Order: sequence, then C-alpha cells, then structure tokens
Amino acid sequence: MRVLGIETSCDETAASVVVLDGCSAPEILSNIVLSQIEEHAAFGGVVPEIAARAHVEALDGIVEAALADSAVSLDEVDAVAATAGPGLVGGLIVGLMTAKAIAAAANKPLIAINHLEGHALTARLTDGLEFPYLLLLVSGGHTQIVAVRGVGDYQRWATTIDDALGEAFDKTAKMLGLPYPGGPNVEKAAASGDAGRFAFPRPMKGSAQPDFSFSGLKTAVRQAATAIAPLSDQDVADICASFQAAVADALGDRVDRALARFREEFPDKASPALVVAGGVAANRTIKGTLEALCSEAGFAFVAPPQKLCTDNAAMIAWAGIERLRAGMAGENAADFVPRSRWPLDSVSAPLVGSGRRGAKA
Ligand code: KG4
Ligand code: ZN
Repeated sequence: MRVLGIETSCDETAASVVVLDGCSAPEILSNIVLSQIEEHAAFGGVVPEIAARAHVEALDGIVEAALADSAVSLDEVDAVAATAGPGLVGGLIVGLMTAKAIAAAANKPLIAINHLEGHALTARLTDGLEFPYLLLLVSGGHTQIVAVRGVGDYQRWATTIDDALGEAFDKTAKMLGLPYPGGPNVEKAAASGDAGRFAFPRPMKGSAQPDFSFSGLKTAVRQAATAIAPLSDQDVADICASFQAAVADALGDRVDRALARFREEFPDKASPALVVAGGVAANRTIKGTLEALCSEAGFAFVAPPQKLCTDNAAMIAWAGIERLRAGMAGENAADFVPRSRWPLDSVSAPLVGSGRRGAKA
C-alpha cells in the first residue's frame, strides 16, 4: 500500500509518501514540510489568511517534491489522504481541494483524515505500537489526553478548558518580549533561570475533573512581570523557569491521573505505553517529568522523533494506510466538506470555553 498524504491544517504545508509492504515495517519514502513560521513571526502568531495564501502558493511544489523524493509516481499510489479537519478552514480547503483534484485526475480514491487521528496513530508508524495506548497531545492548538483503542476508536479523557499548552508558552513569551514561536525561547531562557523564585499556580492540580487549564497561570505570569517591570534578562529567565516548572507540575498531575485510569480500564494490557505528540513535547523539562512518571507507573514512554511529533503529512498518509487496511477508508471523499472543528471522539461533549484559540483547540 502506497499513500500520498497532504497536510495544510495550520502553518505547515506538507506532503509525504508512506508505504506498507506485506508484513514488514512501514516506511516513510518522503516527508516534506514547509514551515510558514517566518511569514507569521511579525504578528506573534498564525494569521489564518496569510496561512491559506501561503498553502496555495506552496502546495503544488511540495506535493511534486514528495513524489519525486519517494521515487513513486502518482500512478503507483493507491490512495490520496488529506487532512480534512480540524484546523484553519482556509488551509483545509486548499489541502482538501488539491487532494480531490489529484485523486480525480489520477483516478485514485481520496481519504479524508482527521488531523488528530494522524497524531494519534503516529506511534504505530514509528514504533509499531499495539492498541490500546494513551496519547498526550500538547501543541499550539491542542492539549488532550486520548485513549487510543483502535483505528477510529478514540476516547478523549481530558482537554483544555481554556488555552492550549503551546499557546500558553507562546503568550508567555510574547508578554516577556521573547520572539515567536515562544515555546523554544521560553525553554532557552529558563535554562539560566531560578525555577523557585516565583510560586506560580498549578492549575487543576488535584482536581477531580481530569481536564487542563492554563489561562490562570498566564495571568499570574503577567501580574508577576508587571509587578517587577522593567525586566532584566535574569528576571525573564526566572519567570520562564518558574512558569515551566508550574506547567510541568500541573501537566504531570493530569497525566498521572490518566495513567491510573488506563490501568483501571485496561487491566489486561501487559505493557502499557504513554505516547507524546505535538510541539510542546520537545520541551526537556516536560519530557523529563513525563518520563519519570511513566517509569514510576510501569508505563513505556514513547516519544516519536520530533519531526513526526509536530505537524507533518507522513502521519496523514499513515492514517490513510491504517484506514485502508482496516477497511475504514470510507466512501471516496470527493464530496467531503472540510471541518474546522472535528472532535476525534464524537462521544465526549465539547467543553465550555474550549477552542478559544479558534479552530484547533
Ligand atoms: O505541534 P506544533 O508544531 O504545531 C501545532 O500547534 O499544531 O506545536 C507548536 C507549539 C507552539 O506553541 C510552540 O511554542 C510549542 O509547540 N513548542 C514548545 C517547544 N517547542 C515548540 N513549547 C515548549 N517547549 C518547547 N521546546
Ligand atoms: Zn497538529
């Protein structure tokens, strides 16, 4: 099975070809990702209209490059898989329309993929992980804990009631005058900071509700920064270190609960695993906290390579293969309309206040 994947739901224009041959491990034949960070940096965040236009300009070339890199012709592809949601609708339209056109011209089936499913199934592409497992998705648009039970069978156990975690990093960076994207810059500044200087709140810690919240922490950072302004480099470093410590602590508390729930719900699972995905998973303090929690709870800690943790099209092509293999590719998606909101778990109700960032939270 060879699938061409296309991803345009946020600020990465991406295309990839993934192959699964018989019983051998799947292989990523090409994985092209064009980040639009520079186009959005001046605005301190992703501007949807700029993103959509940039996708239009880049996508044809990116698809061509992905096919050329893989040495697979369009004729040899079994299906085209494209992100159809959730995400910024302009970008989704560009990616899905392009995929529809390619599929129609080459007479191939089109598979509409939920972006979150791409993240959820990546660990099976990279590590051959067996169902069920637990997924922590922490990016600029999502903060979720999901029980991944099978292809198309997901249960969201926790989500954010306000900001996504990456968004909290980005907003904190902006407040402190650090450049976009904020996460890596907050982490860099934190390295020379004193994490004990500011006692920031640990939102939701100990709460019976399993969800996340970060807006209160963001407000506490703003108040602390305002109180001691103008900020020296050391002040910024100390705030970043204290913020990061609060985040790791709060996140750890939520994840710990989920690990315990997983044990309860899947008592027969011999070697349970926690998978992390999303840009924030690159953060070493957070990674260290999660690793320690997993080793204490007897969970394997699976962190796919960073390039496959952040937005990419290999995960979309792979989700297409998983769906083809499971006989769940659906009707040819020629009529599928992009969905800016498309929960992975259709059973869990959306939380009041979630998705304030817009499309993806
Ligand atoms: O998964 P991603 O590349 O894109 C989506 O949001 O879909 O995640 C980007 C987010 C940004 O908010 C960025 O600030 C955050 O991940 N991030 C980090 C780090 N690297 C990226 N946050 C904390 N520490 C990092 N090292
Ligand atoms: Zn994503």
